[in-house]
Amino acid sequence: MTRHLLSIADLGAAGVAEILALSERTDLGRPLAGKGVALVFQKPSARTRNSMEMAVVQLGGHPVYIQKDEVGLGTRETAEDVARTLACFHEVVAARVMDHRDLEKMAAVSPRPVLNMLSDRDHPLQALADLLTVKQLRGRIEGARIAYIGDGDNNVARSLAEAATMAGAELVIASPEGYRLGQAPEGVRQVADPVEAVEGADVVYTDVWVSMGQDDEAEARMKAFAPYQVDAALMARAPGAHFLHCLPAKRGEEVTHEVMEAPSSAVWRQAENRMHTARGALAWLMGVGA
Ligand code: CP
Ligand code: NVA
Repeated sequence: MTRHLLSIADLGAAGVAEILALSERTDLGRPLAGKGVALVFQKPSARTRNSMEMAVVQLGGHPVYIQKDEVGLGTRETAEDVARTLACFHEVVAARVMDHRDLEKMAAVSPRPVLNMLSDRDHPLQALADLLTVKQLRGRIEGARIAYIGDGDNNVARSLAEAATMAGAELVIASPEGYRLGQAPEGVRQVADPVEAVEGADVVYTDVWVSMGQDDEAEARMKAFAPYQVDAALMARAPGAHFLHCLPAKRGEEVTHEVMEAPSSAVWRQAENRMHTARGALAWLMGVGA
């Protein structure tokens, strides 16, 4: 059966563990030799595009970057027809989409693996890199206490919540009323107070207050999230904690410049891990054994 990677929930704990193990291996060889990987982007990207392109190259393959107007996912052609067409040429069809349902439509018909490079609902590649980073910082993921401050109901928070609980980490999310994670996995604690969330944390994590595609909500969001900035005073409530951010960061909004640049910030290591986990995810999709 064709493997797909649309969300951490679909992947399951075994899949997460296998991809993390593959991500740390340096002997994967060139399973993509002579093969292509389609990278379709409906939204901008720095980390995902570059980490995926380099991961494909490291596995011996050829990445093809496709901007949204080139294929017109759901406009020039249906999502299903785009997936079927790209699967004629590529070993993996990866896409960053506005609407998660487009990925589901693609996976339903694609004879090749479909990989989610961010949707409005999930960002599984980010969560895999986040877990790898926690592992590198702490030695193990199990038992880690992660505090996520800000928009609890976005793609990054959802995938992080699913991945963290599967890997045995504790997650506390602090967000304002109306921005809590819906259908949160069992074990995730959701609170209103950022200080309560960070106390005892090993890792403090945040993401932008206004995600791509939410510009019309910007004013309301800036107001609601104003008390949720991660600043030095909040970090001081979690002595020894590392700071993580999926990036891009809006310095002065969800995080201060000082916190981004502090020795406790591991955001560049986290960004680099996007490439290692992209390699692990591609290898897993191709059936390379962990
Ligand atoms: N973190 C992340 O996905 O970054 P990009 O949007 O730049 O790919
Ligand atoms: N939540 C952000 C993540 C960007 C990587 C967004 O969707 O814009």
